[in-house]
Amino acid sequence: MYRFINLVSQDAPDSLASDISTGLSSPEKYIHHKYMYNAAGSELFERITQDPNYYPTHAETEILTRFSPEIAAQLADNTAIVELGSGSSVKTRHLLTAMVQHQGKTLFCPIDISGDFLQENVKRLSADYPDLDILGVIADYYVGLAALADEIRQPKLLLWLGSDIGHADPATAAMLLRDKMLPALRPGDKLLIGIDLKKAAEPIHRAYGCPGDNDPLRYEFNCNALRHINQKLDGNFVTDNFQRYCFYNETAGRLEIYLKSKVDQQVTLNTLDQTFVFKADELIRIHFAHKYDQNDILQLTQAAGLTLQHQWFDAKHWFSLNLLSVGAA
Ligand SMILES: C[S@@+](CC[C@H](N)C(=O)[O-])C[C@H]1O[C@@H](n2cnc3c(N)ncnc32)[C@H](O)[C@@H]1O
Repeated sequence: MYRFINLVSQDAPDSLASDISTGLSSPEKYIHHKYMYNAAGSELFERITQDPNYYPTHAETEILTRFSPEIAAQLADNTAIVELGSGSSVKTRHLLTAMVQHQGKTLFCPIDISGDFLQENVKRLSADYPDLDILGVIADYYVGLAALADEIRQPKLLLWLGSDIGHADPATAAMLLRDKMLPALRPGDKLLIGIDLKKAAEPIHRAYGCPGDNDPLRYEFNCNALRHINQKLDGNFVTDNFQRYCFYNETAGRLEIYLKSKVDQQVTLNTLDQTFVFKADELIRIHFAHKYDQNDILQLTQAAGLTLQHQWFDAKHWFSLNLLSVGAA
């Protein structure tokens, strides 16, 4: 059984327009990473996760395959799962299987901004899991979470996989957890968050196709933000005029991905009635992925006002899954 709430149509056009206008007018230009995702972007990301070099997906899959029954056993009876940025939910299926085995009928609420992709995913899940009651929420994370806060009266597990928490710097991530997520949760609710760990630059570079612009799949994925903006804001970005530039910044502990303008150029977004000037070699920041060590995770947890209840790791210790409690464990 499934149904949907679509909050994007009311919420997105204005926020996309103002986000893009602000980001491209800034002295150091940026585009929020979420604008890489529409149906085409979600498909491209799925293809990246199938690359053996993309260890975050494989390590997190290893953890969920092995430990999902143990995770399910740590949750209160009748726990609903709310997943932020669910994508294809391929990894989530391991936990859903364990939850259904553990407690029977389970409410699952995936939230994702990529609406068409979410709808297809929910239909497939519903066909494969008769014991799931699915409420698909097409929305930005925080809009979706706020809408669910009143809708769900039972205990909740907030699931945030893929180390998507790493898009923000650790201080901002703590603030997002504390100020934007906790208000949607109650004492006793839990969060299960995938966090990529600090490691040598080499496997990180291979995972993200860095350095340089020689990875066609990841280039297409990053350029999908430009195509998405062209489509939504009647723009004339020419993707061939940009190349990828990315590297692991060991000092800051983060992977950085930019689109670099190959030439002096101007881009007009007709819906905004704005033209943006790009100099040759000028960068647009498109994606940061912060990596954590154990101390960083403890600091994040403490700053967010959460309790770290349990952690699971893959065999190489490259990735962590962290169970956090609202209030005391
Ligand atoms: C990197 S993918 C991860 C997908 C999946 N969780 C995984 O671990 O493989 C990020 C997902 O989050 C969604 N997303 C990104 N930013 C979002 C936001 N602010 N609100 C809602 N969904 C978002 C994207 O559409 C995409 O499906």
